[in-house]
Amino acid sequence: MQAEIAPPHPGPEIPSPRGGVAVSVRDVGKRFGSARVLEGVSLDIREGEFFSLLGPSGCGKTTLLRILAGFEEPDRGSVRIGDTDVLGVPPNRRHVNTVFQNYALFPHLTVFENVAFPLRLKKLPRGRIEEEVMEHLRLVQLEAHRDKRPEALSGGMKQRVAIARALINRPGALLLDEPLSALDAKLRQQLLVELEKLHDRIGITFILVTHDQQEALSISDRVAVMDRGRVLQVGNPAEIYEHPNDLFTAEFIGETNLIIGKVRALEGPIAVIDTPQGLWRVRADAPPAPGTSLTLALRPERIRLSRGDPTAFLQARVEDLIYTGSQTRVFLRTEGGLLQATALEAHGRQYRKGMTLGLSWNDNDPWIIPGP
Ligand SMILES: Nc1ncnc2c1ncn2[C@@H]1O[C@H](COP(=O)(O)OP(=O)(O)OP(=O)(O)O)[C@@H](O)[C@H]1O
Ligand SMILES: [Mg+2]
Repeated sequence: MQAEIAPPHPGPEIPSPRGGVAVSVRDVGKRFGSARVLEGVSLDIREGEFFSLLGPSGCGKTTLLRILAGFEEPDRGSVRIGDTDVLGVPPNRRHVNTVFQNYALFPHLTVFENVAFPLRLKKLPRGRIEEEVMEHLRLVQLEAHRDKRPEALSGGMKQRVAIARALINRPGALLLDEPLSALDAKLRQQLLVELEKLHDRIGITFILVTHDQQEALSISDRVAVMDRGRVLQVGNPAEIYEHPNDLFTAEFIGETNLIIGKVRALEGPIAVIDTPQGLWRVRADAPPAPGTSLTLALRPERIRLSRGDPTAFLQARVEDLIYTGSQTRVFLRTEGGLLQATALEAHGRQYRKGMTLGLSWNDNDPWIIPGP
């Protein structure tokens, strides 16, 4: 038998080539004192996927990410990373690495040394460290800044250093906890694009925590929507946006009109629904039985606005207009309440407060959500 010499900070040897790992969470629960922070969380994240955990502040996103990383243990349930059940496995043995919101760089070390740090711990030969660090600085386009200290870098650059350092051990999954939230809107957008390119280039699994729905929808292969410690829905961005499972998701993601109704009759695939806005005819795959109460979600951009169209479903008075540059949000007063539509900038300019407009949409545009 060969004697094994334990390195000072044990970690996985650098595997090559890079490859993503699948992550599987089963029925995970976590309490802090009497507060239930996660309940019955199950998720399957695919190898190489860009996956986001999306939800409001306090819903348990960071706690779930910390459980994946190994900084927290769940009270119940199981977590697998790749082929390994990782409960009880320390963070540095999990083949994942985390990037935090606040960069956590060493202020007294240069960019190069910050990124080299995990390799120095492993006592890799100098030539190998130089090679690996430069490869990773190139990956985040910071080769030219190798000798700067963090204080000389912008927020976006610091975050790229943190990402390079997290990738240097070639983890199978990169965990990112709100990595862009400290940056201003424009820089956030830029770094988001870079993050997407980086993901495409290295092909490992990315798991992003964010409370920003636009961020999650624009970058992810799939998104898990969380609320109060539970996962409400998992799907690709279009599914989440177009077909929310419940009221929380419908309201949390984007703007939407929610209209309470009751099924009056079924005509084949068409449900005839009584609403405060009159009778709506809605096409659905499996429409609920007559008598069922439900909520209809209709995205503002699905509403077509017209002037003097006698075939429009509803007439409404323009109550307010909010100009946002590329489009105008139009608030419309109908007999049954307020509806919101959006008009492209070029059209929005024709509308004035007090004007009467006709509203129409396609019969598959309203989406049925169970219950109020
Ligand atoms: N170590 C801890 N001890 C006690 N309570 C905690 C601890 N960590 C988190 N919590 C609580 O658990 C809940 C979920 O916290 P978590 O940080 O996971 O939420 P989050 O979704 O990441 O929120 P945010 O968007 O604000 O970062 C919160 O109510 C928080 O106060
Ligand atoms: Mg958090």
